[in-house]
Amino acid sequence: MSNVFYAPGEPRAAKVNDLFAAIARRYDLLNDLQSFGLHRRWKCRVTTLAAVKSGDRALDLCCGTGDIAFALARRGAETTGLDFSKKMLDVAHARRRKQNPQSAIRNPQFTQGDAQQLPFPDNSFDIVTVGYGLRNLASWEGGLGEMFRVARPGARLIVLDFGKPPNALWRKIYFTHLKVSVPLIGWLFCGNAQAYAYILESLKHYPAQLAVAEKMRALKLANVRVINLLGGAMAINYGEKPR
Ligand SMILES: C[S@@+](CC[C@H](N)C(=O)[O-])C[C@H]1O[C@@H](n2cnc3c(N)ncnc32)[C@H](O)[C@@H]1O
Repeated sequence: MSNVFYAPGEPRAAKVNDLFAAIARRYDLLNDLQSFGLHRRWKCRVTTLAAVKSGDRALDLCCGTGDIAFALARRGAETTGLDFSKKMLDVAHARRRKQNPQSAIRNPQFTQGDAQQLPFPDNSFDIVTVGYGLRNLASWEGGLGEMFRVARPGARLIVLDFGKPPNALWRKIYFTHLKVSVPLIGWLFCGNAQAYAYILESLKHYPAQLAVAEKMRALKLANVRVINLLGGAMAINYGEKPR
């Protein structure tokens, strides 16, 4: 059975927007519950791979409530978080106000926009990340193409998302977790099972880490790597735009 928040092609964005508007307030709590807190560690890994240098400009796409954007900013990058969901960005703004109520310096900056049509010129950023975002786009290849376009030569491009474990037994166990426990947690703590059942539905339509690596190679990125986490249940794709 397909999911109310999933539609292929053009109508996809509106459905995804509805989904995140519905869960924004509880998003961070649910992330901790469904991943047993591990998403923090995986996002930390993304930030380490970003290898922030002084003066770097970073862009975090589909930034949501801002975890990766905040982490990049803490490491010294002048960071922009972009998302199309006003409700998710409201949470990100509230977090920033809470963390740094006095500061006139706004780092990260948050901006509303579409990851598939980025409002930035070519070659603008030293780091471009996306966490749990590519899978939600009507065209993940288009999203990756935009990441490539706005990255400067030498920039690090990093994608964190749900993966597809190569081991058949582990994949079955993990997909069962996504099918049963994750929607149950969504229902119990957010009153919305469908929003969390969407994760498995979207993953079925996303070719995951191996295809992302292939596309990175097709874009002629250097040092393309796949880092499987939890036996490939999560994955980080890494590549560098050639100089
Ligand atoms: C699962 S959340 C990830 C949030 C955050 N990156 C994290 O790791 O916690 C996915 C985010 O992607 C955003 N999103 C989905 N499609 C988008 C698009 N086309 N343009 C911009 N943001 C989009 C949603 O609004 C949502 O905030």
